[in-house]
Amino acid sequence: ETEQTLRPRTLDEYIGQEKVKEQLRIFIQAALKRGEPLDHVLLYGPPGLGKTTLASIIANEMGVGIRITSGPAIERPGDLAAILTNLSDGDVLFIDEIHRLSRSVEEILYPAMEDFALDIIIGKGPSARSIRLDLPKFTLVGATTRAGMLTSPLRDRFGVIHRLELYTTDELTRIVIRSAGILGIPIDPEGAREIAARSRGTPRVANRLLKRVRDFAQIKADGVITQEVARKALELLEVDSIGLDEVDRKILRTIIEKYNGGPVGLDTLAASTGEESTTIEDVYEPFLLQMGFIARTPRGRVVTPLAYRHLKIPYQEQQRMI
Ligand code: ADE
Repeated sequence: ETEQTLRPRTLDEYIGQEKVKEQLRIFIQAALKRGEPLDHVLLYGPPGLGKTTLASIIANEMGVGIRITSGPAIERPGDLAAILTNLSDGDVLFIDEIHRLSRSVEEILYPAMEDFALDIIIGKGPSARSIRLDLPKFTLVGATTRAGMLTSPLRDRFGVIHRLELYTTDELTRIVIRSAGILGIPIDPEGAREIAARSRGTPRVANRLLKRVRDFAQIKADGVITQEVARKALELLEVDSIGLDEVDRKILRTIIEKYNGGPVGLDTLAASTGEESTTIEDVYEPFLLQMGFIARTPRGRVVTPLAYRHLKIPYQEQQRMI
């Protein structure tokens, strides 16, 4: 799968998230020097920024294996116990969407993270007793779009916590050029920048748009992605000059047209746009907030004058009463 080959395998190959890389480099070197596993790592932030990639890089740099799973996939405590007992010493266990672990599964995780131990209850009633099984040492890398949704006992057990940030256009340009090189796609720097500038700060979006622009370049042009080709392709894809897609625009237009620019509550907005509230909150809102197109108020979301200007909708100051 191309998604896999595009993924950088070392911290040196990984573009962006400079502060995260700088710190991880030190923690990894120190752990290696002591001959210990790396402390548990929590990565949070919007989807598509490279949390899974970083987990694989950590395993690679530590010279250990990785087991990849997700919160919803671990249904019962026994599922997690099976995973933990099958790890090799020092392995990375990556749990995506870790905020979706059930309470009963989470409770298995506490002694596992803290003491590399599994507490098992044997028997029922008065004769029930607990035995402690030793586990291989491991590094848990947890990923979530919402650090705020983790219980504090779980969050407190991570020694390293990093928030991943949206990427700059310069960083995304370098990622697009790198990916194009790997995929053998001819692209000039202006073409790469045009794709990067419209990728909502997100490498996953940039790599997806790169592949679609390549299709366009091969059928409607001579195969080379120039700025002109990228512009035309992205116009066809309805990705606008700053990267807003149909859903972004629908969210903004709904607030403007149905709620007079807001404030409107998240659940109301979800019902009127037909998107899940978690999707709005995790996928769309971070970028719209970063662009300054929406603002959060105690009474809900409001669209800013900047967004009206971008959408070419007249903004009247007196229309809002907050
Ligand atoms: N591909 C996707 N994300 C990347 C990143 N952060 N660095 C390099 N290549 C990538």
